[in-house]
Amino acid sequence: MPAPSAPVRTRPAPSVEPAATPAQSITITANGPYVVHGNVELTEQAITPVGGHREYRTVRTFPSQDVYALCRCGRTSTPPYCDGTHVSISFDGEETASREPFDERADVYPGPGVTLLDDNRCAFARFCHREDGDVWTLTELSYDERLKHEAVKASSDCPAGRLVHVDTEEGTVYEPRLEPSIALLEDPEEGVSGPLYVRGGIPLVSADGSVYELRNRYALCRCGASRNKPFCDAMHVTIGYRDGLTDPDAEEEK
Ligand code: FES
Repeated sequence: MPAPSAPVRTRPAPSVEPAATPAQSITITANGPYVVHGNVELTEQAITPVGGHREYRTVRTFPSQDVYALCRCGRTSTPPYCDGTHVSISFDGEETASREPFDERADVYPGPGVTLLDDNRCAFARFCHREDGDVWTLTELSYDERLKHEAVKASSDCPAGRLVHVDTEEGTVYEPRLEPSIALLEDPEEGVSGPLYVRGGIPLVSADGSVYELRNRYALCRCGASRNKPFCDAMHVTIGYRDGLTDPDAEEEK
């Protein structure tokens, strides 16, 4: 989703109150899978149009496991888990995303009620579009309490963590309380499988051992094609990625 022009670059920093336990983390392996620790709940969820907006609809919940390895190359024959195919295809999983903190990367769109921080890290999940307008328009119209609420809903549902609102007067950060979990996103409207939606402030550890900035929400690439690894950049739509778990077309017909 493209952002409108003319952001202003003054901002308060967003804060995160992680819900994850100290045992919970995701470790990226070099040119290999994501290893998830701490019995993190794993579900498959479909991005589902409801009226003029979209919601997450749970398709299935996977058996709980203390540790599991999720495919990052997009080629496993045992989705969503790694089966070692990344070795035979010589998967290049180099992490190329910026390590600059969100509040340094984000553009700022001031509104009368809420101010929007937007780092442009788009997973094309389209939760930023609601019946009354997109998140940037709603931010401009946030003198109206109902539209302010809609604006915050539009930013809070974004799986990429691209969009964060702060109260313009008080500086309060609107960040939803999310239980630690990972969702394999499916996108029936586009007929593709989407990223891993990581919720609840789960630490992300690079293959080089460093830890990424802690975020409440983020979307990890699982098609293997992102140019901003480890994060999703919507390439799954471009390449028509399907994980083989659920037929997105069949899903759309339900
Ligand atoms: S990362 Fe191992 S099979 Fe995809």
